[in-house]
Amino acid sequence: MAINLSDISFYYKKHHAQILKIPEWKLTSESKIFIQGASGTGKTTFLNILCGLMSPQNGKVELFGTQINRLNAAQRDSFRANNVGYVFQQFNLIPYLSAVENIILANHFSKNQNNAKKEEALDLLSRLDVNRKDWNLEGRNLSVGQQQRVAIARALINNPKLLITDEPTSALDIKNRENFMNLLMDVVNENHITLVCVGHDPALAKFFNVVEDFSNINKLVIEK
Ligand SMILES: Nc1ncnc2c1ncn2[C@@H]1O[C@H](COP(=O)(O)OP(=O)(O)OP(=O)(O)O)[C@@H](O)[C@H]1O
Ligand SMILES: [Mg+2]
Repeated sequence: MAINLSDISFYYKKHHAQILKIPEWKLTSESKIFIQGASGTGKTTFLNILCGLMSPQNGKVELFGTQINRLNAAQRDSFRANNVGYVFQQFNLIPYLSAVENIILANHFSKNQNNAKKEEALDLLSRLDVNRKDWNLEGRNLSVGQQQRVAIARALINNPKLLITDEPTSALDIKNRENFMNLLMDVVNENHITLVCVGHDPALAKFFNVVEDFSNINKLVIEK
């Protein structure tokens, strides 16, 4: 099992409204799931809990057999670096590092560090259709579509078992969205990666082998 959640409850601060209530949710390895839900219902919060960036007040978060919310913060960071790639909703590239440097930086936190990673970063960039002339542009000078591709390359550089993407095509037009999703699926299939994607664009559903409504996962969301 790639993901096994049980009895999760999460609120940002004591006395604030509860955001997540997940009695149970499981995902088998190598699934490609698209989780659809309206804005503000807790999808990004859910992803942050899933990968251990945040811990729930209650419940169990198990990834590939490891209960990550039992690890200490340093162990959790290291587990994440070695097993999870995350493409954030806002990409979170370092603005003053180049495209290539942004990707290699992610490898710095992993136990699989090696110098061949620069080659691999360049290879990923060309596979993701980022032009060679843009490889050394700083993050802040990349277009939004390019930032998206660099963020995906960064998430893949450590060969994660799980890839998490938060609204991955929100900044792309229809043609680029199709190209981008096809590329993403090729990379995910080739490397046997489990893919969890959240979003509200129904046009993405066709790329995935599982589509689930977020209200089936987070019981605080009222079904439409
Ligand atoms: N750091 C935070 N502190 C307090 N409340 C927060 C914080 N981050 C998010 N929230 C609240 O939690 C709720 C869920 O937010 P979240 O970002 O998880 O939703 P989302 O489903 O990802 O929305 P969107 O589709 O717009 O990205 C919202 O009401 C939001 O205001
Ligand atoms: Mg969000």
